[in-house]
Amino acid sequence: MEYVTLNNGVKIPILGFGVYGIAKEDCERCVTQALDVGYRHIDAAQIYQNEAEVGNAIVHSNIPRDELFITSKIWVCNFGYEKAKASIDRSLERLKTPYIDLMLIHRPYADYKGAWKALEEAVREGKIKSIGVSNFNEKQTEDILRNGTITPVVNQIELSPYGQQRRMRKYLEPKNIAVQSWSPLGHGNKKLLSDPVLAEIGAKYDKTVAQVILRWNVENGLITFPKSCNYDRIKSNFEIFDFALSEEDMAKIYALDKDKYCFTPPRWLDTIIAKMKKA
Ligand code: A2P
Repeated sequence: MEYVTLNNGVKIPILGFGVYGIAKEDCERCVTQALDVGYRHIDAAQIYQNEAEVGNAIVHSNIPRDELFITSKIWVCNFGYEKAKASIDRSLERLKTPYIDLMLIHRPYADYKGAWKALEEAVREGKIKSIGVSNFNEKQTEDILRNGTITPVVNQIELSPYGQQRRMRKYLEPKNIAVQSWSPLGHGNKKLLSDPVLAEIGAKYDKTVAQVILRWNVENGLITFPKSCNYDRIKSNFEIFDFALSEEDMAKIYALDKDKYCFTPPRWLDTIIAKMKKA
């Protein structure tokens, strides 16, 4: 495993297991399989409605808590200081853990500043080790930097070879805010997963397209956590630490960028919200 050192000195495994979209009834099995394969970083969220199942897998694994890195995210309906504070305690209960390694503001709506205040307090109380944001644009990140006392350690954004988020990465780098790529495999996008350039690169290293994409993330210092409910894919997505992409292959992947995303890129949100307010 490789690690990224966050701006507060905490080390996070660069590859994790994402549980977005995993049904309650499958979640404990999938997380258990991921832990068996060797994943030690799980990316969860309140809105995924499977924190309790992630917690069951953690408890049943018997892996010492300090060998695991658990992320969760506060959902929008829990924003505002009081609600966010109570929701952090509920997440801790569901995850069956005395602390959460990283907790994020899931999306920049409503009173996210109140939620940030609750997160900062939870850090001081030892309930959370690190805090960050997700799907934030530059303006919203500035808002947190101006009003908060803790610098977010990450901004978790949608990022794949077809949508490389160059502008946001350029903005975050000098601030020492690490980038987490959600949906690194384009949400299972068939076009991306059979892209001829990626397939050709994969053939060279005897790796799948998914493995090439995940390795590209690692070599860019991007923290990522593919989701899968299939044991073979959970396993193969983890087998990316025994090869390195050449500079030439990295360049070929950079050239695939179309600035295309499944969901609205954060920087457009302001315009959309302004239009909604006018309507
Ligand atoms: P499945 O759960 O059947 O494996 P992302 O993490 O980018 O959101 O992508 C998740 C999607 O990609 C899921 O639909 C998952 O399906 C699929 N997926 C995960 N790993 C692989 C892989 N190695 N090859 C092809 N599809 C994958």
